[in-house]
Amino acid sequence: MTSSPAGLTECRSERARLVLGIETSCDDTSVAVLERGRSLRSMLTSTQDHALYGGVVPELASRAHLERLPGLIEQALADAGVAPRHLTAIAVTRAPGLVGSLVVGVAFARAYGFGLGIPVIGVNHIEAHLHSAELEHGDPKLPALALVVSGGHTELVSIEGFGRQRWLGTTLDDAAGEAFDKVAKLVGLGFPGGPAIDRLATAGDPAAFAFPRPMLDRPGFDFSFSGLKTAVAQVVAAAPSPLPDDWRANLAASFQRAMVDTLVAKTERALAHTRARTLQLGGGVACNRELRERLAATCLAASVALHIPSPRFCADNAAMIARVGALGLERGDVPDPELDVAASLEESGLLDENP
Ligand code: KG4
Ligand code: ZN
Repeated sequence: MTSSPAGLTECRSERARLVLGIETSCDDTSVAVLERGRSLRSMLTSTQDHALYGGVVPELASRAHLERLPGLIEQALADAGVAPRHLTAIAVTRAPGLVGSLVVGVAFARAYGFGLGIPVIGVNHIEAHLHSAELEHGDPKLPALALVVSGGHTELVSIEGFGRQRWLGTTLDDAAGEAFDKVAKLVGLGFPGGPAIDRLATAGDPAAFAFPRPMLDRPGFDFSFSGLKTAVAQVVAAAPSPLPDDWRANLAASFQRAMVDTLVAKTERALAHTRARTLQLGGGVACNRELRERLAATCLAASVALHIPSPRFCADNAAMIARVGALGLERGDVPDPELDVAASLEESGLLDENP
């Protein structure tokens, strides 16, 4: 390694040349091979089946990661046409998420990286969601605004550059995806409920029930969805049992309309506040068709570029982990030998890294 600035840059970009990404923060096991932080050579994501328990069981999730990682990595490398010795670094999710699941991914990455003699870099899962749209759309025009809506998070973040983000809003209780999942359960749909509500809503009347649009009357960018979920539960409790099909479709459509109205209104407020030139979406709820259509109209009217990832990059995936790892290596981040995991966004340190 040389200490001249040109040599240093070369060394950094060499480390980011062929990064293996590993994502195990929740129930999806995902691995990817990414070249120079931009070009995806391969990605495999294995999703656990929740039919039996109706949700994620942490102990089963971590065991499944352990069983699946070796085979997935072998296959992803084969798909990419890459031998393990060609890898230049490993990027692994270290926070936030289920601790047992994170520990499996981090321990695996450390052992594999040690065996290959390459650096292992820890990545924040939410920072990766902020940047997942860049895998297909490239670098955004700055400043950008990111809306990350998943099963565990609802975040509005202003992005002024890589590693330079300012938190604008978050949920005070349930996450957007969590509300979709809970309402889906109330109307008798399986887990995860978001895609099922999305489908059922097309058959219903979004004006059938006047559900609240939480927090719109308050300044700022925070969200709260537990009251909306309770409002749906109250209608279900007073409804005929078993719930007739037209009620179910109307509940799905009216709930989805209230949720999307709220997300769109706060996003519009944040776009105006930050004068963002690009809106980047991330997280599983970004697959929602009504949300995509409404935000497309918003961005068209405001002359903002809208970057929505394909569904496989909206959901948890290792390509976004590899990208943020590669960008960090290019910036000169030094791998942290401890790689401590953290369960929450607050503990993860990301909120402190303001511009
Ligand atoms: O990002 P993700 O795959 O995992 C994490 O939570 O990190 O997001 C999963 C969430 C679930 O709550 C699921 O119901 C929701 O995304 N989701 C959707 C749709 N597809 C997935 N919500 C609404 N509409 C959809 N089409
Ligand atoms: Zn996620």
